[in-house]
Amino acid sequence: MKSPGIHHRITDAVRAGVDSDQQHGCVMPPIYLSSNHSFDGLYGKREYDYSRSGNPTRDLLGRTIMNLEGGQHCVVTNTGMSAVVLVTSLLKSQDTIIAPHNCYGGCYRAFLSLAQSGRFKVQFADFTNLSRIRRVSDQHRPKVIWVETPSNPLLRITDIRRLASIASEIGALLVVDNTFLTPLLQRPLYLGADLVVHSTTKYINGHSDVVGGAVVSRDPDLGEQLDWWANCLGSTASPWDCNQTLRGLRTLHARMRCHEENAQAVVGVLQQNEAVHRVHYPGLACHPDHKLACTQQTGFGAVISFEINGGESAVRIFLEGLSCFTLAESLGGVESLVCHPASMTHSAMSDEARTHAGINPNLLRLSVGIEYTPDLVNDISTALDRVVGANNARVNNTSANNIGESVARYA
Ligand SMILES: Cc1ncc(COP(=O)(O)O)c(C=O)c1O
Repeated sequence: MKSPGIHHRITDAVRAGVDSDQQHGCVMPPIYLSSNHSFDGLYGKREYDYSRSGNPTRDLLGRTIMNLEGGQHCVVTNTGMSAVVLVTSLLKSQDTIIAPHNCYGGCYRAFLSLAQSGRFKVQFADFTNLSRIRRVSDQHRPKVIWVETPSNPLLRITDIRRLASIASEIGALLVVDNTFLTPLLQRPLYLGADLVVHSTTKYINGHSDVVGGAVVSRDPDLGEQLDWWANCLGSTASPWDCNQTLRGLRTLHARMRCHEENAQAVVGVLQQNEAVHRVHYPGLACHPDHKLACTQQTGFGAVISFEINGGESAVRIFLEGLSCFTLAESLGGVESLVCHPASMTHSAMSDEARTHAGINPNLLRLSVGIEYTPDLVNDISTALDRVVGANNARVNNTSANNIGESVARYA
């Protein structure tokens, strides 16, 4: 399952800027760190003048991401959140954005806080029900419809094609946060989206050592507007970070293969263990959106979430039993991570909003890395078996206490 025309774009990404240096014949492109560029005499502005507004290293990364997504323009930003907020600079105070009620907690917080300060209006809605999205859209006539698919952390899928037709009927821009899948597994612009947003911090850089973001647009004029705002607001990324990110991007296709292979092995373990109440992974035939995922994705990625039996103590026992999964925020790095969304990534949401979004305290999210598969499988099995042991012991204690109480009552 590969997107049309992605193969040669992978080669282009691996070889971005390779053997382009005329002066020294560097095989890998040099990093242009200079914050400013000289003028060629009075009025003699060259292609670049000041690094906030333009930089050759940043442009190379931008072109590479743009090419993979199949867009016409890319703004590379200093964090994923600055890419998100950059898109909102297209909105005026009377404009509305509709966003998923279960989007990444940082996006939720940004949309809500900016709306509360009067920058624009926001409506959060459940994107698994597109008839409802249509009704909300007809009522609020949004300027932007924002979607994250798969959603974080429950991995629900939204039909991008259908959403794009709703957006175009009401003249709204459709923005897809494609952080979880990358252009290798999903290319929203080909499905009708206007803009694609990335936290490049995740799979695109892939080594958990740079924070960054990107906004890719189908329409070059819209891209120019975003460029203007990025320079105006100072959202652009540093050349050093861009070079690191490009270095990561060169191996994206190789990493994604390994990530997905490991994720499938881990899903198998989760499904079989009695400590697990429910697994959320769109690659599973029993996932409510599996069929839809197959129509618009070319893979299922390597983020899995699951609910554990046994409440907070089980969550604790599981986490303490892991050695190959580090308890940390973020995802998409070569190293495996585990996260407790309710207290970590989604803690900025109110308890009510979290419950409404289905993020309960028993939910854990895994970002499966590229370690040796059997090590990950054994690690998860061992930690889950500890939970099974503790849950069984609790049940035995409870029944022993109940028997003790009954004996005492009848004595
Ligand atoms: C789906 C998604 N979008 C945007 C962001 C924000 O990106 P960053 O942390 O790079 O600012 C994140 C961060 O976790 C995310 O998961």
